[in-house]
Amino acid sequence: MQPPKSKIVAPQTVARKTPVITDWSDIASWYDQLVGEGGSEYHQRVVLPGVLRLLKVEQGQRVLDAACGQGVLARLLAMRDVRVTAFDSSKALIDSARVHNDGLEPSKIRHAEYMVLDATKPFGQFLPQNTFDSAACVLAIQNIHPIQPLCEGVAGALKPGGRFVIAMMHPCFRGPKETFWGWDATDKVQYRRVDRYLLPRKAPIVAHPGMKESHYTWSFHKPIESYVKCLRNAGLLIDAIEEWPSHKTSQPGARQAAENQSRKEIPMFMAIRAIKVGDVNYQPEPEEPQPD
Ligand SMILES: C[S@@+](CC[C@H](N)C(=O)[O-])C[C@H]1O[C@@H](n2cnc3c(N)ncnc32)[C@H](O)[C@@H]1O
Repeated sequence: MQPPKSKIVAPQTVARKTPVITDWSDIASWYDQLVGEGGSEYHQRVVLPGVLRLLKVEQGQRVLDAACGQGVLARLLAMRDVRVTAFDSSKALIDSARVHNDGLEPSKIRHAEYMVLDATKPFGQFLPQNTFDSAACVLAIQNIHPIQPLCEGVAGALKPGGRFVIAMMHPCFRGPKETFWGWDATDKVQYRRVDRYLLPRKAPIVAHPGMKESHYTWSFHKPIESYVKCLRNAGLLIDAIEEWPSHKTSQPGARQAAENQSRKEIPMFMAIRAIKVGDVNYQPEPEEPQPD
């Protein structure tokens, strides 16, 4: 259960119509510990292997890591002799990323550079243009709004034909606060209940639900069509969508088989790969506003 709102420590005072600050500085040390050197369990078992496969990186290539957090993907790429530029709007997390980076083998350290940049601003001016072979945004796009500047900044930095891989919680089944597991005792089926999907919304996510006072981060829900539109507006056309289930399995018990079945059927994550196309001129359509 979510603690009453008065007990939640807001990362900032949220005034109506004022853009919400979304960086994770307030929970940076907790997140750094959670992710650790090599990634959380979900990073290691599901997300990072999928992202690496979709990125198709090769030694010596240049990759942009947008909203990199404490640099878990950037380190992995640097260890593979890929040249990474990674940025996040949280200075505290970029500081952690630099500390982790210093722990890499000396020959790999210089493969990664880290910058404090806001993905909702025209950050492309700080990056070389038409230069990166690929880009990634891992488990972060749902913490950012608007995302049109992110798509445009990435598109400008990519070479023509470059790949942008986005991994996120599945927007259909894992929307914040409005999707839940349920149990149908008659049919003995675990189902996923989806109360809201199509309309954009935002929800505060409490970092430490059991605690008396807890910081929270923002999660922005958008339907899949919004991602397609913002990417296309930026000249990025989708060539792959993958849907990844959780790797977890249930403990032995009466519901074990049904729970395992539903976990396999109802994906936890969605990944999109979009390609920078040179000469397609789409009429841009505005990104849907998020309610206050
Ligand atoms: C769930 S974390 C994911 C971090 C990292 N990609 C990972 O996989 O561990 C979400 C990240 O988005 C970053 N973020 C939120 N808003 C941002 C913005 N406007 N520009 C850049 N980064 C942002 C946060 O600071 C946080 O590091």
